[in-house]
Amino acid sequence: MMAPPEPRLAVVVVGASRGIGRAIANVAARDRIPVVLVARSRDDLETAANDIRKLGGEAFTLDLDLFSADASTRLAAFLAANNLCCDILVNSAGYGLRGAATTLPIPDQLGIIDLNIRALTDLSLHFLPGMVARGRGGVLNLGSIAGFMPGPNMALYYASKSFVRSFSEALHEELRHTGVTVTCVAPGPVATEFLKRSGADRVRLFKVLPKVDADYVAERAWRGFKSGRRLVVPGLSAKLAAFAAAWVPSALMLPLIGRLQRRSNDPCPCGSGLKYKDCCGARSRRAGSRQGSRSH
Ligand SMILES: NC(=O)c1ccc[n+]([C@@H]2O[C@H](COP(=O)([O-])OP(=O)(O)OC[C@H]3O[C@@H](n4cnc5c(N)ncnc54)[C@H](OP(=O)(O)O)[C@@H]3O)[C@@H](O)[C@H]2O)c1
Repeated sequence: MMAPPEPRLAVVVVGASRGIGRAIANVAARDRIPVVLVARSRDDLETAANDIRKLGGEAFTLDLDLFSADASTRLAAFLAANNLCCDILVNSAGYGLRGAATTLPIPDQLGIIDLNIRALTDLSLHFLPGMVARGRGGVLNLGSIAGFMPGPNMALYYASKSFVRSFSEALHEELRHTGVTVTCVAPGPVATEFLKRSGADRVRLFKVLPKVDADYVAERAWRGFKSGRRLVVPGLSAKLAAFAAAWVPSALMLPLIGRLQRRSNDPCPCGSGLKYKDCCGARSRRAGSRQGSRSH
């Protein structure tokens, strides 16, 4: 009896229907490896896959909601059915929400933990043992410069990216000498739908910081991953932000980020039901002006 053919090595990109994930899928496909595109939007996945096929690459699509508890099992079954195995996993699915944590809907905030943390961890832990057994491949996780500091008015998102960085860097070290690499890529603002969907595009911080494009991030991320880097921070402004996060004291950094990520019309976090500018914002302005007049 003939032995079944060995599964072919594939790159699995989770969050590949648009944005950074889609850009990384394009870059990976240039290496002539089959690419498996995963996300919820079937039509967008097909469009992305067709773009890869037009350039001579090989692409598979799987519409999968990572909020479902059996997502990693269903992805593994899809790979097995297509005689593929996950050589490289790219975790790019993620979302954020801007606003004070006490004013945002709890389920939407817990969803950040579910997607950015739980699903990323589940997929990584599911596919890493196979990579270790083969002595090759690895995981490329999308962190953010938000992972270098706490982020008032976007608290859950920053905390989730802190997890991604910590988890990825620890795995990178644990897997040294196994032939398997784990890389965290930590971009600053990238011109994708993420900024609008999260509401970040409406605040000063994201208006001021320069945005890089997804293709640029994808090239840097892929190159960094291929050369076994633990952390990739693409672009000068992201590097400066990471440097500032490490060296500027939290007592200065936290109020600054909090202010730059707040709109005066936001609901006040104190629960009064008033706008921030008419409630705690007004109180803090009055306190500031009293302090100013005392020091004169
Ligand atoms: N854009 C930025 O400024 C920026 C900066 C630093 C880090 N990042 C990080 O980079 C990653 C990619 O961001 P992006 O800018 O490319 O965002 P994006 O354009 O909004 O893309 C997000 C991707 O995640 C997928 N996704 C969302 N929820 C999902 C779910 N429940 N199940 C399966 N897939 C899901 C989306 O596809 P479907 O909606 O079709 O499911 C889409 O493909 C995120 O982790 C983000 O935190 C972004």
